[in-house]
Amino acid sequence: MQGPPTRRYLAGFDPGAVRVRRYDAVILGSGIAGVYTALELPEGARVAIVTKDAAHASSSSLAQGGIAVSLDDGDSPELHFRDSLAAGAGLCDEKSVWTLVNGAAANIESLIRYGVKFDRGEGRGDISLTREGAHSVNRVIHSGDTTGREVCDTLIASAWDREGIDIHERTYAMDIVTDAAGACVGVLAVDIASGEPTLFETGVVVCATGGYGQVYRYTTNPDIATGDGLCMAYRAGAELADLEFVQFHPTVLNHDENDEFLISEAVRGEGGILLNAGGERFMGRYHAMGELAPRDVVSRAIYAEMRQAGAPSVSLDVTHKGRGYLEKRFPNIFRTCLAYGIDISKDLIPVAPAEHYSMGGIRADLAGRTNVPGLYAVGECACTGIHGANRLASNSLLEGLVFGRIIAKGIAEGLGRRPAEPDAAAIIKEGSREGPVGPDGAAEPLSHVKAGTMRMEAKSAMTHGAGIIRSKEGLTQAGLKMGAIWSEVAGAGLEGIEGYELYNSISLSRMVIASALEREESRGAHYRSDFPEQRDEWRRSIVVRRGQPQGRRGV
Ligand code: SIN
Repeated sequence: MQGPPTRRYLAGFDPGAVRVRRYDAVILGSGIAGVYTALELPEGARVAIVTKDAAHASSSSLAQGGIAVSLDDGDSPELHFRDSLAAGAGLCDEKSVWTLVNGAAANIESLIRYGVKFDRGEGRGDISLTREGAHSVNRVIHSGDTTGREVCDTLIASAWDREGIDIHERTYAMDIVTDAAGACVGVLAVDIASGEPTLFETGVVVCATGGYGQVYRYTTNPDIATGDGLCMAYRAGAELADLEFVQFHPTVLNHDENDEFLISEAVRGEGGILLNAGGERFMGRYHAMGELAPRDVVSRAIYAEMRQAGAPSVSLDVTHKGRGYLEKRFPNIFRTCLAYGIDISKDLIPVAPAEHYSMGGIRADLAGRTNVPGLYAVGECACTGIHGANRLASNSLLEGLVFGRIIAKGIAEGLGRRPAEPDAAAIIKEGSREGPVGPDGAAEPLSHVKAGTMRMEAKSAMTHGAGIIRSKEGLTQAGLKMGAIWSEVAGAGLEGIEGYELYNSISLSRMVIASALEREESRGAHYRSDFPEQRDEWRRSIVVRRGQPQGRRGV
């Protein structure tokens, strides 16, 4: 893809005006992966959690369904392993998946020790287990339909209480600073309200910034999910992998006033059925598992039914479960739908697929290490091969826990023997000379209106061209649109968070499109109408790295 090259640093600063703080480790993001990693570090460690919004504003907090763990007598880590691999469509890293499923129970016990409350019922230890798509047994533990909120609120409260952990809210991390050898020496961030820059000096950076749903027009992700972490890591030299694998959740509320509210897969797990515009229960025509088929299958089926009927949505019917049950089991969904005039005990819920999760991300090994010394990645922003081409439902919160603990252990082992930190301020000064815009503001800044228009155009182009059904033609069109926007954004002055986010999301969208064009097959969440079959030669990842030409680069 043509266009100006990616900058090394988003913007230049006068190092004299940058406040410096020093930490043993800096964690970017306050979702489950970031906060749990911080809490698993030794009590004496000086840790900063740098987060773009309030600490509780994350995709993890919005998670409804639950956490997958094999607790039932008829279940086992082996079965959980097999279901994860089947959903991942041949692209999972088996060692990563083993690590995940074997680490599940111990980390759930630890969550309970932190004070997380899961619904009680049948099952080992009396924890209630529900079913979600592509699981062969009931294995999803939950706290009503606000599991993420229960877990995150509990962990964040513990982190606020922990001496040694500082949570820097509403602080936008712009860039990971590296030294001449390419190793992490800090993070450059700005306070969102005041615009004041801070350099967090550290030899250990953990990227836990979540996904990039906001590059799409319809997404369940919060507004902050613009892919900043991936882009920062990329600019610092990290490899990104599997970017073309983007998961679309089948059932997101489709209402004039709300098109982003998730209707948990657990609703189908508890018996909810899908009906098309003609009132027909259609999933049986697409997959033997019906409504509980893998997510990509259900999303494509809904999309096909919508297109065939020219309808903006299909219907989810859970009326047969009765009001008492629904209010108790899904209180948040019940209340939220009611606020839009939908009584789910009597009315059908209009739903359509929307972007939900990115399987790809910053390439990391089993210990969460990236190819940049000192940089770790965990959670949705990471790509450790757990999810392959399609994530199994409720494996994501689990990933944050299992790999957060592993990363914390690795960091703890190195804490005592870290060499003196290099002068990151001098490096910023040096590095920021590379970008087209320095502290003197040489380039014309983008106006607020212009940036907003570009953002909406880019999101629409991604939804149409790089959405649920892709083709060479559609991806090429999206690529051309994105290239035109990129030419303007890349050379412009970036003012404030809006400009930085735009730069990151366009940069990332281009990488998603390029990878999706390159992968000439259909696998998991990546469906090409011009290459509808899975192909053995594509049983590999596409990896991108700054400074390498876009093109064939799979491993
Ligand atoms: C859901 O509740 O349907 C979402 C669960 C997940 O994304 O794993």
